[in-house]
Amino acid sequence: MSKHPDGIAPHGGKLINRIATAEQKAEFLDKADFLPSVQLDERATSDLQMIAIGAFSPLTGFMEEAEYLSVVENMRLANSLPWSIPITLSVDEAVAQPLKEGGLIRLNDPSGNFIGVLELTQKYQYDKKREVVNVYRTDDEKHPGVKVVYDQGDVNLAGPVWLLQREPHPYFPAYQIDPATSRAQFQEKGWKTIVGFQTRNPIHRAHEYIIKCALEIVDGLFLHPLVGATKSDDVPADIRMRCYEIMIQHYFPHNRVILAINPAAMRYAGPREAIFHAMIRKNYGCTHFIVGRDHAGVGDYYGTYDAQYIFDEFEPSELGIIPLKFEHAFYCEVTETMGTSKTSPSTPEQRIHLSGTKVREMLRRGELPPPQFSRPLVAAELAKAMQAMASAE
Ligand code: ADX
Repeated sequence: MSKHPDGIAPHGGKLINRIATAEQKAEFLDKADFLPSVQLDERATSDLQMIAIGAFSPLTGFMEEAEYLSVVENMRLANSLPWSIPITLSVDEAVAQPLKEGGLIRLNDPSGNFIGVLELTQKYQYDKKREVVNVYRTDDEKHPGVKVVYDQGDVNLAGPVWLLQREPHPYFPAYQIDPATSRAQFQEKGWKTIVGFQTRNPIHRAHEYIIKCALEIVDGLFLHPLVGATKSDDVPADIRMRCYEIMIQHYFPHNRVILAINPAAMRYAGPREAIFHAMIRKNYGCTHFIVGRDHAGVGDYYGTYDAQYIFDEFEPSELGIIPLKFEHAFYCEVTETMGTSKTSPSTPEQRIHLSGTKVREMLRRGELPPPQFSRPLVAAELAKAMQAMASAE
């Protein structure tokens, strides 16, 4: 793993910072009223932030065509560095048509606020089917990531970007720890090895088990739930955050965990997203990254361990972060502990594991998932929040 003054090297060697300086900001504000503007959706808004804070290093903007095609076809940037998900700003033909290559564009968030600037170097048409088949391994429009691609505009706007300023997160300001800061915190704590954990679901005991297995062999945990756009039936981020807080407060040694938000949007691209998630955590300074069962998957689109196999398609040195791969974990009634088929003598009937859908159904009925599946304090918080949501509907 290559070294860097503050721990592991970011992807591509340098942590990108595309937050406008005071002078740039003043210049952009001066020009703002005269620039053509483009409205970003929720995903593009979070992509802009991810680029600006260096979480997508080495990207400095939305991808040009050669870069985009290289990522879609070969899972590599044009300079051959591994990169598995296209980062594009896709707009309708009518929006793209009047925009001039070479000019600056004002980027507005979904509420119309001026949040960034794009230097438009290129606009190009792209093949949606080719993108989804390569990236999502399906062209089924029922796949939530595929649907986003089919619903978005037909033209990609490309070029370097600047975020006007880094605003505190509206709901989780205390947990907004950007890559430069997480790297500094790891140094301060003297952690040499840090495992990153991606999650978009309420934390359950299988999560806890694989995290703790990892914690046995590294110095610290970077618990990094995704809080960007998710599909509508996923549990909202504020509820999940309370569950992570409860989990840390009651079931983890506090000095070995940092809880921080990952502002990325979820793609549900399974294997390709696992690589993407690992590169993001490398940029935050993690040396290890957990990949469990059906990582970033949805429905039955991916094999249980496809998101682990995909790491074999790269040289470990070019990824520069170590994947820690875990089998499907469950509660084993024979040994009365958590385990996997690697450590448990149980037959399938002697294992307790519940699907996310099953748990959501139970919670809506006011039933608590069993303590073998979910820690009781977490289950109680979830039940309270889900029932409040159900009665508000
Ligand atoms: S994900 O979309 O972010 O992958 P989730 O929050 O459920 O969804 O998973 C977080 C991480 O835990 C992923 O690496 C996933 O593979 C892993 N994971 C979830 N449930 C299990 C389980 N029962 N056994 C092993 N790994 C799991």
